[in-house]
Amino acid sequence: MSVEIEFVDVVKRFGSQTILDHVNVKFTGGQTTVIAGGSGQGKSVSIKLILGLMAPDSGHILIDGVDITKISKKELNEIRTRFGVLFQGVALLDSITVFDNVALPLRERLRLSEAEVKSRVEQALAQYDLQGQGGKFPAQLSGGMKKRVGLARAMMVEPLVVLFDEPTTGLDPQITKDIYKLFFETQRVYGFTSIIVSHDIPKVFNLADRVVVLGQGKMSVFEQPEDIQHSTDPHIIQFVQETMGQVYSSSYELA
Ligand SMILES: Nc1ncnc2c1ncn2[C@@H]1O[C@H](COP(=O)(O)OP(=O)(O)O)[C@@H](O)[C@H]1O
Ligand SMILES: [Mg+2]
Repeated sequence: MSVEIEFVDVVKRFGSQTILDHVNVKFTGGQTTVIAGGSGQGKSVSIKLILGLMAPDSGHILIDGVDITKISKKELNEIRTRFGVLFQGVALLDSITVFDNVALPLRERLRLSEAEVKSRVEQALAQYDLQGQGGKFPAQLSGGMKKRVGLARAMMVEPLVVLFDEPTTGLDPQITKDIYKLFFETQRVYGFTSIIVSHDIPKVFNLADRVVVLGQGKMSVFEQPEDIQHSTDPHIIQFVQETMGQVYSSSYELA
């Protein structure tokens, strides 16, 4: 069971600014697609369109063939219950513990018993290398640990679709690589449809199934991530040169 997401001739404008200009793209079910593009190109807007938080000016957003621009709030909420979302800057609740943060969707969305909550949260903490951290507060964690808590929490609903908007902002290249590797591994285990948004292209994106570069209102699809480096499109070449720097040229190996 994997969910396919499709943009059909999507146009999104703000005033005179055209953010998405007749975009047609399919996010294949059960795969990880990275949407990379410069700042302000419309990456977050694209995620909001998929979540139904914004509507396109024209065109259709299909989730498993259902046009979410045409359904009721109730139907949209139904679809969203199977979405795991992790936004930039995480948004862990600072006043409650790591355990309670991870437990949140189980208590609020799934309404599980406390015994079930405890067992699921402890399993998740172990899985995301957070054993013994449940009693801490977010402020007591490193940046990388906070991201893992956010990931654990997003996974608690057993999502069919996972959307990550700039999940590694503010992390150093090594932790960025570790977090992305953890995402890709998690995706392979569960097989959900995954879309990761990023303003650059770290080398670890070679582990993604596909990369889509967003710029000038268009999405260019690369079925093999390494093909980006061979593009002859001047906008893509420029983007690659500007962003593949630090992480792409570093010497670490992808184990
Ligand atoms: N609600 C909004 N109203 C007006 N303009 C917006 C709104 N949301 C985004 N924009 C504009 O759309 C463009 C794309 O935004 P965004 O998707 O957030 O970019 P990014 O690719 O950096 O995530 C930006 O120029 C932004 O200012
Ligand atoms: Mg953004």
